[in-house]
Amino acid sequence: MLFTRSKFARRLLGAFLLLSITSLGVLGLLLSQYFHDAAMAREQENLMNNAHIIELTLAEELEATPIEMQDTIEAIQAQTGLRVTVLCADGQVIADSEGSAGQMDNHLLRPEVQQALHRSYGTSVRYSDTLQENMLYVAIPVHTADGISAIIRTAAPLTYVEASYDHTLHATLLAMFFALLVSILVAVLLARRTLRPLSAMTKTAHAIAAGDLKRRIHIHSGDEFDVLGSTINHLAMNLIDKIEHEQVLNRRQQVFIDNAAHELKTPLTSISGFAETLQEDDFQQPEMTRHFLRIIYDESQRMTRLINDLLSLARVGHLREDPRNLHRVPLDLGDVLQHCADSLRGKANARAQELTVEVARPLPPVSATPDLMEQLFNNLIENAIKYTPEHGHITVSCKSTSTKLIACVRDDGIGIASRDLPFIFDRFYRVDKDRSRQTGGTGLGLSLVKFLAELFDGQITVTSEKGKGTTFRVEFPCQLK
Ligand SMILES: Nc1ncnc2c1ncn2[C@@H]1O[C@H](COP(=O)(O)OP(=O)(O)OP(=O)(O)O)[C@@H](O)[C@H]1O
Ligand SMILES: [Mg+2]
Repeated sequence: MLFTRSKFARRLLGAFLLLSITSLGVLGLLLSQYFHDAAMAREQENLMNNAHIIELTLAEELEATPIEMQDTIEAIQAQTGLRVTVLCADGQVIADSEGSAGQMDNHLLRPEVQQALHRSYGTSVRYSDTLQENMLYVAIPVHTADGISAIIRTAAPLTYVEASYDHTLHATLLAMFFALLVSILVAVLLARRTLRPLSAMTKTAHAIAAGDLKRRIHIHSGDEFDVLGSTINHLAMNLIDKIEHEQVLNRRQQVFIDNAAHELKTPLTSISGFAETLQEDDFQQPEMTRHFLRIIYDESQRMTRLINDLLSLARVGHLREDPRNLHRVPLDLGDVLQHCADSLRGKANARAQELTVEVARPLPPVSATPDLMEQLFNNLIENAIKYTPEHGHITVSCKSTSTKLIACVRDDGIGIASRDLPFIFDRFYRVDKDRSRQTGGTGLGLSLVKFLAELFDGQITVTSEKGKGTTFRVEFPCQLK
């Protein structure tokens, strides 16, 4: 059943019960009290009126003998059920409608008598030993010229008043019982209405948590559950996106590892092959020995470069994930370019190339790390030297606009075919593998360049035409002063 399973339903029922039972209880008690007080007041007023009527009735008898008076009040009790007692001002009972005046003790100290002697009337509620029930007594003084001559007391049992009090109390209990039934009913209905979408949602959420990410919650209750439902749907959708993204990254990582292993294996294979041949030949042919040793040296150099590039990539990767270790300072990009060009001028000269630096000052500073910024442009200028024939021209330039710094490395070299352009920033991508191998290229240079540019919030673009030349353009946001 719903209530044994659902804590929510039990709480709901508890709240309903508490609310209805306390409010009905308080209302019942207040009403009972009110009715009781009203009935008492009415009863008292009746007794008082009756006492006054009896005073008028007994006006003559009061002068006469108690015996006659006794007859009259007995007649009154017989007719009306009203108990009447007549007392002297000193409390002695003169006549009593119960007919036992003679045996009755002095009533002077009865509260209603005391009050009547001092005020216009007196009342008291008491258990009557004579009648063995709760009685309401009202006493009034009878005044003569000499003062109080007698006291007339009327009394009636409280059976009626007490019964009306009990009735109200019973009615309240009955109402509480019905409230209990209605509370259970309403709580059950409300809990069921509330819990139905919730349990459907829980089921779907469990399915999603268990990996069924395509599952969706379809609830249109028009309340907060809608929001919860669409939030869970959103969560599942985000999870799918995240997982897909992760899968792409993993695949890329896998390809990268395959490529890296392959790139390292190639020189290693030739190194071990040539070393083995040399061993077998036992250095008999000095010419061949020299040639093979040269190859072994070149291949090991190539491996060193490859490993250095891989280490650089890894370092930039770490910095990208945790930029706290990236100690950026304001840099003059013109100085960086000049420094790079100077360090590579020897290589350009060896190929009879003209290497020019054009810096349009003044330049705002760029926020970067000097060695990494130099690594970026060294790679671009080295490429330009490598992929430009002898006597070619290479221009390194730098200028600023209001929002950015623009650096360009331009050459009039071999250019890149448009079908290759989209891939040149990929790791290990080389347009012409054989030619690049000859020049010692690893195909990691431009991917490192792109990572570095992005590390410093920059963007790199390339324009190229086969046979005409290539321009790499790097844009950095200006550092605000
Ligand atoms: N200035 C350029 N002119 C023509 N082709 C270029 C130029 N720069 C790069 N490329 C082409 O893009 C490819 C990728 O360049 P990248 O710098 O990544 O590798 P690499 O120069 O071959 O090797 P590495 O720089 O790692 O030694 C090169 O192999 C080359 O084909
Ligand atoms: Mg390169």
